[in-house]
Amino acid sequence: MKCSACHRLDEKRVVGPGWKGLTQTRKPEWIMNMVTNVEVMLEKDEEAQKLLQLCLTRMPNQNVSIGDARDVLEFMRQNDGEK
Ligand code: HEC
Repeated sequence: MKCSACHRLDEKRVVGPGWKGLTQTRKPEWIMNMVTNVEVMLEKDEEAQKLLQLCLTRMPNQNVSIGDARDVLEFMRQNDGEK
């Protein structure tokens, strides 16, 4: 997936934060917004801005459709051991 250039599936940060545990610490809507609408999130959302300060890179908009974003969320859930 094109996200893997910047995100790993464990907790290690590469360019962006690792995805392990994400579905336990973030609300599904928040993750969906981050995947489909990252510019708005970086402008308005405090948590997203904190990540930006930490990573010092703006995540580029990946033009992910809502349907694909749901799949990504599902994939993250599986990565966190949910079914
Ligand atoms: C060029 C690098 C890059 C790519 C490619 C990228 N991201 Fe990101 N992502 C980041 C950075 C950096 C952050 C932290 C926020 C910021 O600084 O913009 C982030 C944050 C996130 C977060 C929030 C993480 C958390 O810890 O709360 C999610 C979810 C996310 N990205 C999903 C995706 C998805 C899904 C894709 C692929 C469709 C993707 N990213 C592709 C760099 C990237």
